Amino acid sequence: AVERTLSIVKPDAVAKNVIGEIVTRFEKAGLQVVAAKMIKLDDEKAGGFYAEHKERPFFKDLVSFMTSGPVVVQVLEGENAIAANRDLMGATNPKEAAAGTIRADFAESIDANAVHGSDSAASAEREIAYFFAADEICSR
Ligand code: CMP
Repeated sequence: AVERTLSIVKPDAVAKNVIGEIVTRFEKAGLQVVAAKMIKLDDEKAGGFYAEHKERPFFKDLVSFMTSGPVVVQVLEGENAIAANRDLMGATNPKEAAAGTIRADFAESIDANAVHGSDSAASAEREIAYFFAADEICSR
């Protein structure tokens, strides 16, 4: 089925100037960018996004990293977009990410891991609404 998923190009990948290379991977895999913006997250916006991880030991470092520089948030649309994006990203820890995945090629560490992608249909719905109003999404 055609799905939508939320993608974030994280501060490390923006700083490395590989936004375009990452978006190209989405496009080459048949995913379409239907919404996009660059923003600098603050503690409240990043903390709210990752609210499910609030009690995890890495939460503070995660919020601190995600607010360290601008990010690019996008809605990707396409057949099985949620799983397709996760396949393109590779494992959360770049040391475990399969060769040729975005994290294997661009990520440095489990925090500076280049990209985020929604992990389920329910997360995708929540995460897309967290960053985009309905009229900011341009289905094609
Ligand atoms: P992301 O997909 O953005 O979702 C939560 C983030 O927390 C994850 O990517 C990692 O960058 C970060 N993180 C840091 N430590 C861990 C950990 N031990 N397990 C999972 N995620 C972690």
